[in-house]
Order: sequence, then structure tokens, then C-alpha cells
Amino acid sequence: MRSYHVTTFGCQMNEHDSERMKGMLESLGYTETDAVERAGLILFNTCSIREKADSRFVAHLRQAAAHKRRDPEVVIGVGGCWAQSVKDDVFRQFPFVDVAFGPGQVHKLAEFLTSDSLTAQGFFEFEGFTGHLPAKRGRAFQAWVQISVGCNMKCSYCIVPSTRGREVDRPLDELVAEVRAQVAEGVREVTLLGQNVNAYGRHVRDGGPAASFARLLAELDAIDGLDRIRYTSPHPQDMKEDVVVAHARLASVCPHMHLPLQSGSSRILKAMRRTYDRERFLDRVALIREHNPDIALTTDVIVGFPGETEADFEETLEVCEEVGFDGAFTFIYSPRRGTEAAAFAEDFVPHEVCVARMDRLVEVVQRRAAEQARRFVGRTLDVLVEGTSRTDPSRLRGRTGHNKVVNFAGLADPGDLVPVQITGATSQTLTGEMSLLARAAAG
Ligand code: SAH
Ligand code: SF4
Ligand code: F3S
Repeated sequence: MRSYHVTTFGCQMNEHDSERMKGMLESLGYTETDAVERAGLILFNTCSIREKADSRFVAHLRQAAAHKRRDPEVVIGVGGCWAQSVKDDVFRQFPFVDVAFGPGQVHKLAEFLTSDSLTAQGFFEFEGFTGHLPAKRGRAFQAWVQISVGCNMKCSYCIVPSTRGREVDRPLDELVAEVRAQVAEGVREVTLLGQNVNAYGRHVRDGGPAASFARLLAELDAIDGLDRIRYTSPHPQDMKEDVVVAHARLASVCPHMHLPLQSGSSRILKAMRRTYDRERFLDRVALIREHNPDIALTTDVIVGFPGETEADFEETLEVCEEVGFDGAFTFIYSPRRGTEAAAFAEDFVPHEVCVARMDRLVEVVQRRAAEQARRFVGRTLDVLVEGTSRTDPSRLRGRTGHNKVVNFAGLADPGDLVPVQITGATSQTLTGEMSLLARAAAG
């Protein structure tokens, strides 16, 4: 029996690409194994967003090389953004790799595995969306939906435009049909994926009719049986009133938005080429909250972008203080090969300064997130059950529409949507109890 193991690094895009790799491999007769050392095909789906992502992957790759030394029949494949960023250099750096492919070339893996090729091969073209691979989903009731590939923005720190190519959007009718089919299979929650989802519709594949993100949301909301629609990530530049209003009007669009800030300093935002300034970001937040007073807002922040002064950083702290995000991913700036900002070496902020700023940022983010989370205590919220609590197997774990993780007492199965009374809150998670009414109904 041919067995495979996939290790996935990076974002939800990669998670979803890995599901499609798995689906494709199973259709070729491969079976998944949890143990890397027993796999005949060892695959890595790589990320290159920050330097840490690269070094973690290289450590894993060396372990795979050790398995291959014991069993030369083992095939090692490297896909994803790191592979795309180094291309054929993969084989020079790591001669034991058999096949390498970029994010747009997942389907070429099948071609390689079914050919008689004995020589290493790399596939790094951009062909737009390579869809129609069956996904092997991690959970039956949740699905990713890739609405676009690539990114047309030019953020000066970011490697993604060079690893995922220009933006190509999938036609709206194709997306609606895909989600309908998923719902028919038992999916209750979809997460729409793209690097800049709210730009959706302007770069439709094959010159198909233009659409808009707000219209896509409306058409998906109309699908019977679909309870929740999430998406990631929108860009503040394209956050227009139609999408903001869609949140308020469409029942299945979740009350959560991940809106990446990156910096609170207009000067740094300009150097990042983010195409909005501090005022515009705050104005978007005001508009979003005017229409959706209870929405959860989360964000991404980069600390120590080249040239960031203490005053710039304080502006970032101020915006985080003022907005009061429900959560934030915070990153220390990491120079990426081939990006514009990597050339600003003389302006790099010393690492110890970055670390000290990060500590201050995390304090503000966590304090404000904890304050925000208190608004949920005493309320009864619908929770989509995902499994048992990671720390206490006698309790359940799930997510609210606001994307808050809740650990709670109750009886339910993964995939159930149950009312939970919230009794406690920290900056990260909520605690609660399944409401008595629901328990009575269940049993
Ligand atoms: N397309 C999404 C983000 C993709 S990358 C968007 O624009 O929001 C996810 C996050 O990684 C970014 O939002 C940014 O905060 C961070 N990031 C990207 N490149 C980085 C770099 N070179 N150093 C540190 N953080 C980075
Ligand atoms: Fe990178 Fe900017 Fe595109 Fe996001 S919008 S993927 S940060 S270039
Ligand atoms: Fe995602 Fe990493 Fe690529 S964050 S888009 S897998 S560089």
C-alpha cells in the first residue's frame, strides 16, 4: 500500500492546498499515515512569510532526509510558497528532494507520481486557479473555499505576490455551485479564502463576468442549510460600505472581521505601500461598527518595520488602544528575499528594540481583548462544536460567530450548533455551559 504524510506550514491557503493534495493522492490510491517514518511519500507544504517559517521547515526536511537514507525508495516532495520562492534551487540546496512545486502547481504532483520519471522535477508556473481537485476535509462540517489566487498589492515587506502570482478570481456561479455541493455533503460553515478577498470580482478567470464580494456573500447567504460564512483576509483599502452592510443584513455572515492594520503610523503605512493611512483605517472601523455594533474585530500588526521610530510605534499602540481589537496576530518584521523593504537594510530596527516593542504591544492587545471579551459574559451564544476541550477532555470546545473559542460543559457532537451561556472570559477564550433549554431539548 502506498502511504503518504503531509506536513503543512503557513496560512489557511496552505491548509486548504494540503487538503487538495490529500484528495488528489487518495484518488491515486495513496493512504494517509500519521507517522512520517512509515510514509513512502513525504510531502511538505511550505510557507516563507517570515524567516522562522523557513527554518522550521528545514529542520523537518532534514528528518525526512534521514528516513530516505534508511529507505531509498522514499519519495520526498516540497510544495508551497518556500518552494516557489527558491524554485530549482530546492534541488541544489537539498539534493535528496524528488519533486518540488509552487502553490499553483499542486496538480503536477499527480503527473510526477504517475510518470516513470527517475529524475527530480520542479513545477513553478503560475496558471491561475488550478482547482477541481477533490479536497479531503479535516472536518465534515467546515470547508475552505478558495475564491481567488494571488495578490495584486505590492506591500513592500511581503513575499506573497512573488510566491502566488497575480490575482485571479473564480467565477461567481462556480463558487456558488461548489458551496451548494459542500452543504449537500453536510458542511455548515465555509471560510472564503483569498489574499485580498474584498477585491474579489475584478479579475475573474477567463474574462468571465465581473462580480463583487458583497454579491458573492449575498448569493452564498441564500443557500439553504449554510449556517456560517467567514472570510479571510480583506484589505482596508477595499472595505466598502456594501460589504459592511452585508455583515449587518445577511444572517449567515459571521459577526467577525479580520482587518489587518500592520501599523498605526501613516508614515510607516506609506513605506509599507499599504495604500491607506491611519485616519482611513480608523474611519473604516467606525463605519463597520456603525452598522455592526457587536462585531468582533481582529487584526495583524508588524513591529519593527525598517525605519520605525519610537513615535511611529507609539502610534501603533494608540490605534490598538483606541480600536480595542478582539484579538491580534503580532509579528516582528522579517526581511524577505526579493521584497522592496529588504533593501532598506540601513534602517533595520535592532532586534532587542523589536522584542521590547513587541512586549508593549502584546500588553495592550491582550488587555483590550480581555476587556472586549467581557461583553459576552452573561449572554447566550450559538457555538459550533468542534470537539473536546484541549485542556479538559470532559468539556467541549467550539466557536462563536465572533470566532471566539469557547470551552464549555455540555453534551453535543462535533458539528452541532448549540446555545451556550457564557460565564467567563479571558483575552483568548470564553468559558460557558450549554444552556439548560438546549440540554432539555437534547435529551
Ligand atoms: N493578505 C493578507 C496577509 C497575508 S500574510 C493581508 O494583506 O492581510 C499574513 C500576515 O503576515 C500579514 O498581515 C503581516 O502582518 C504578516 N507579514 C507578512 N510579511 C511579513 C514580514 N516580512 N515580516 C513580518 N510579518 C509579515
Ligand atoms: Fe502580502 Fe499585502 Fe498581498 Fe497581503 S495584501 S498578501 S500583505 S502583498
Ligand atoms: Fe500563506 Fe505562507 Fe504562502 S502565509 S500565502 S503559505 S508564504
